[in-house]
Amino acid sequence: MKENQDNKMDKIVSLCKRRGFVFQGSEIYGGLKGTWDLGPLGVALNNNIKREWWKMFVDGREDMYGLDAAILMNEKVWEASGHTGAGFSDPVVVCNACGTRHRADHVLKENGKTGVDGLTLEQFQMKFKSGADIICPKCQKRDWGEVKNFNLMFETQVGAEGDMKSYLRPETAQGIFVNFKNVVDSMSPKLPFGIAQVGKAFRNEIAPREFLFRVREFEQMEIEYFVEEKDWQEEFEKLHLDIKAWHAHLGLKDENIREYEVPENDLAHYSKRTIDFEYNYPGKGFDELAGFAYRTDHDLKSHEEASGVKMRYTPAEGVPFIPHVLEPSFGVGRAFTAVLAEAYTEDEMGGEIRTYLKLPIHLAPYKVAVSPLLKNKPELVAKAREVFVSLKKEFGNVAWDDNGNVGKRYRRQDEIGTPYCIVIDFDTLGEENPNLKDTVTIRHRDTGEQERVHISELISKLT
Ligand code: GAP
Repeated sequence: MKENQDNKMDKIVSLCKRRGFVFQGSEIYGGLKGTWDLGPLGVALNNNIKREWWKMFVDGREDMYGLDAAILMNEKVWEASGHTGAGFSDPVVVCNACGTRHRADHVLKENGKTGVDGLTLEQFQMKFKSGADIICPKCQKRDWGEVKNFNLMFETQVGAEGDMKSYLRPETAQGIFVNFKNVVDSMSPKLPFGIAQVGKAFRNEIAPREFLFRVREFEQMEIEYFVEEKDWQEEFEKLHLDIKAWHAHLGLKDENIREYEVPENDLAHYSKRTIDFEYNYPGKGFDELAGFAYRTDHDLKSHEEASGVKMRYTPAEGVPFIPHVLEPSFGVGRAFTAVLAEAYTEDEMGGEIRTYLKLPIHLAPYKVAVSPLLKNKPELVAKAREVFVSLKKEFGNVAWDDNGNVGKRYRRQDEIGTPYCIVIDFDTLGEENPNLKDTVTIRHRDTGEQERVHISELISKLT
């Protein structure tokens, strides 16, 4: 079973490359570890995920405000948030035998050790010092250097003199916190309310791996939801349901989602409660898809102390106070991987094995593909172009496909998850049967069934 699942992930990665979803970053120069480029279909799927998220969490609600903060921020932001310290470091250990740098917690887990989460640097150092039984996953030797903390932020210099340090943001969240006062002053929101942001984040991961799962440049979709302290549990329950609804909207099956209540000793320095939503990735098993944390008033308080600017909410009656915050945080790449894993299907159709992506219609890169039955018949092509242009005007993500025979086109569109294929044939021209004039076939991806529909009904049928 595990082998099948490994195999499934390999097939998905191969499909992603072959059909233009995901390419290795800087591929022609041998790549850059931990980076991937989205191809034409990948960017369409990625944008659809982000658009649906924005629709559900921002446009679909009255209590949410959007934001798009700069990636580069004053370095004081990261000092105040605690990211420059040990709180945003991973323990790294070098194998003296083969020279490979590993994440110490990963090595312990791969050696079957339990109780690894939440260990301090000193505890990691003890384990590897007395660790004659810890084997290097790469060379199988047992010769370890000292465990050290490695900060995950990418450092950079700002300006021609290069005398100002900055970082590529490792999360979008801090951009929200530092703009809290701006949003309150400009929008006068009523508590509880949230600020949402989608954007890039960067982490110098020690061991980037598993396709898009752990990368050095990725996108997050984050919300900071501000509440009164007394209400945090009630609001936590409500947002919890919203997160579950989002995962259902992505088409992820309940049985493939698991919730992990992070134990107290492993909570991030700012959190009083965190639930990790885990997805059952093929060949990997359950691992983090999204996080949901109660961050108390830690961040606004830290920024108020560090900047001297009041980060307060003033109720209609009463004194200004620092709200507490709930944070649903989603990685776009992990959602992308989970969506593909859930959608990847092999079945038998017409006596042949076929591969198709059973993507939800709102996520598919193309909603519909249009083709003429034969590409060497100008009258069929002209009619098909007419249909294509009108659908493209309406929906945008419409494909034109006239390569090979119709059967091959169906397989090609199935493989990239196009829910509908429309074919313009001689009946559309009304040559044999005038009753069929201006009708086309719509072929459905999941069942392979076809129906005959009048062109005038197409838009309402596909909406
Ligand atoms: N603001 C809170 C925060 O950033 P996190 O658990 O570190 O929390 C949130 O990250 C989400 O971002 C994760 O659940 C995951 O989906 C995604 N993520 C984090 N690191 C990632 C990486 N190196 N590669 C891909 N996605 C990542």
